[in-house]
Amino acid sequence: MQIKTRKAFFTLISVIGHWSAGPGVEFASDIAPILHHHCLICHDESSNKGGYRIDTLRGIFEPGSSNLWPVSPGSLTQSHLWNLLNHPDANERMPQKSEPLPKESLQLIHQWIEDGAKLGGHALSQSLLEVIPRPDYPSAPRNYSRPYPADALEFSGDGSQLLASGVNEILVHSCDDSSPILRIGNLPQRIYKILRDPVRGGYIIAAGTPGQLGELLYLRPDLKTILTLLRCQDGYFDVCLTSDKHWLIAAEATGRIQILKWPSGTLHRSIPAHADWVTSLVARDHQGFPRVYSGSRDRSIKSFKVPEGEIELNWVNLEKPVMRLAIHPTTNTAAALLHRNSSSMLWDLEKGKRIGNLNLPTGEIACLHQTGPNLWIGGSDGSLHMVDDSWRKIQKTWSLSPSPAIAITKHPHSSHMALSHLNGQISVIDTDQSTTFPTRPNQP
Ligand code: HEC
Repeated sequence: MQIKTRKAFFTLISVIGHWSAGPGVEFASDIAPILHHHCLICHDESSNKGGYRIDTLRGIFEPGSSNLWPVSPGSLTQSHLWNLLNHPDANERMPQKSEPLPKESLQLIHQWIEDGAKLGGHALSQSLLEVIPRPDYPSAPRNYSRPYPADALEFSGDGSQLLASGVNEILVHSCDDSSPILRIGNLPQRIYKILRDPVRGGYIIAAGTPGQLGELLYLRPDLKTILTLLRCQDGYFDVCLTSDKHWLIAAEATGRIQILKWPSGTLHRSIPAHADWVTSLVARDHQGFPRVYSGSRDRSIKSFKVPEGEIELNWVNLEKPVMRLAIHPTTNTAAALLHRNSSSMLWDLEKGKRIGNLNLPTGEIACLHQTGPNLWIGGSDGSLHMVDDSWRKIQKTWSLSPSPAIAITKHPHSSHMALSHLNGQISVIDTDQSTTFPTRPNQP
């Protein structure tokens, strides 16, 4: 027992022995990201472990059930948080159930507390997510040498604008006019999905700079302020909301599926779901409970209970990586695009078996888009196809452009749809009237 205590004592000393005073520590850029990444999952409004919350800056300083001051400015020994970070007993140490914080992070927290635990001008009422600074991305090119093929498209709530991904930016097009009316910059190089937030009217952006940093972002309705919801290596490829709008689910290049509370944006559960990129997500209610289906480059399709993260279905060893997934709301049919420019496979979800293929009259399937029971297909010949209600055959086709389709979106309250093409053009069509609007180049 004595040896154990002494060993713990020396461990503590040796950890503390590493400190060296560096330049001033900034709360927002140095401390907040550590708390966000390692602690928020158990210490937000709903998890509230140990009665301790750090989702607002005020909470960081308020004692939990121990009644000990978590952070005493200037005094490490009287800072319960610091003592827990360095606790010799792994069961007591924070972050609980994981490795100790990296040495560099401990060093920053050490210095921050010693320097007086200052907030650098941020108010106690601010949320933790709000104060974390975003990286400075390269500015978007002033002019594009050619129109940019948009991976992500989304209509504004009133349908008057169309948001399309550019290089390190989003271009906002007016639906009536042919040139973009706004450029939203300081974004990762590639934007894979733009999802309108029906709760607050902003947009959720799944994006990343390959090989560097992935960001899941929230663009406020003012189209100016951008907040970081999550970060990972590489990128976020897809994002969806459950039908009750309480849960936001994000697909990571790391193979993880992240479940966030919405609209607060705090991370609720992180599921190590796949062995490779999660490329596509669909949220769907099953017997009154939300569920998420995921497709991955690891050639599998899985489903998980939301928000528990418990796995339900697991189909592995598909012929090819899964690019896009669609789930019929009533017939237990899943449509999976197995890689760009292939036919799409149809699956019976209950029986877990393949029940057929979706084929186009001409060309190959390049992208899928689902709105409720309606399934839309973009073809390699640039056309748009509507699939029949049972998802067995093509019901209607519109020829829009000779260039292959990349992404499709639909305005939820009208019959307007937009299709982006490999040549950087965007087609807009009213599918009820079958009237097409002039195609527009996706460039500033
Ligand atoms: C996996 C969940 C989990 C993670 C992650 C986690 N904690 Fe905790 N934390 C807990 C639990 C559980 C307790 C309550 C422990 C107890 O009462 O014995 C707690 C208690 C605390 C307390 C004491 C509150 C009080 O007054 O009793 C502090 C401070 C704290 N955690 C800080 C942190 C920090 C800082 C991090 C990130 C570096 C972190 N925690 C990460 C689960 C977690």
